[in-house]
Amino acid sequence: MTLQAAQEPPAGSGRGAKADNTRALYGGGSSRRITVHDIAAAKERGEKWPMLTAYDAMTASVFDEAGIPVLLVGDSMGNVHLGYETTVPVTLDEMTMLSAAVVRGTRRALIVGDLPFGSYQEGPVQALRNATRLVKDAGVGAVKLEGGERSHAQIELLVQAGIPVMGHIGLTPQSVNTLGYRVQGRGEEAAQQLLRDAKAVQDAGAFAVVLELVPAELAAEVTRILHIPTIGIGAGIETDAQVLVYTDMVGLTGGKVPRFTKQYANLRRTLGDAAKEFADEVIGGTFPQEEHTFH
Ligand code: KIV
Repeated sequence: MTLQAAQEPPAGSGRGAKADNTRALYGGGSSRRITVHDIAAAKERGEKWPMLTAYDAMTASVFDEAGIPVLLVGDSMGNVHLGYETTVPVTLDEMTMLSAAVVRGTRRALIVGDLPFGSYQEGPVQALRNATRLVKDAGVGAVKLEGGERSHAQIELLVQAGIPVMGHIGLTPQSVNTLGYRVQGRGEEAAQQLLRDAKAVQDAGAFAVVLELVPAELAAEVTRILHIPTIGIGAGIETDAQVLVYTDMVGLTGGKVPRFTKQYANLRRTLGDAAKEFADEVIGGTFPQEEHTFH
């Protein structure tokens, strides 16, 4: 690094600094918060990027330090962290508390907070009231909500009010009671509806859209048609970004995980082994030892 470069503040830091959104989202080195403009620039460059869920400050800080540019405080916290069977019972209070923790644990990632079931379905005014709370009280940089054509008016009002919105179509888990958990967009009619939903989300002003459990060919078509990035989960390899629920990704989730996830670690085994070793040492009288002891 030259002396001059060392003395210059990082791009986008401080007042009046011009945001540099030519740097790669992942591994690009910029230390300022990622914005929706960086996301748009990545789509123009044809750059792929990763997104993970996070629900607490400590895990979020690990992913932030690893350079993950976008963290989603998903309502999957309902199943993952709160022990609910579905995402349906998650409340706005729960979302706000955990989103605030994720924001506090991070410096660079764009934090997206999910609007939980029942917090936006009544209409745009309800959506604006509750999204405003996530932005003001938790400090998220964007919100996500489910639905294509049916959520057009909500997305439009939030964007007009200055709140960046990530859409979510295909399998929308908050509608589990009507959709079940199965691949969406199969067959001509369902595929056409998915395309209409994707365009509705984009036309309403969303900055990106999650495609969940959609045939790869259809997800590729949506990705070609839209000028906003698509984020796939169970949607094949041709989307602009990929998202995974982090507990699936690190092998913490117990029981069966969906076929579209990949385990990059087995933290469930590591944590269990550590707990057993600790218990054995307590029972066997070998912990604590002298170096853990005060006199
Ligand atoms: O809540 C969540 O984790 C999600 C992702 C699966 C996209 O919506």
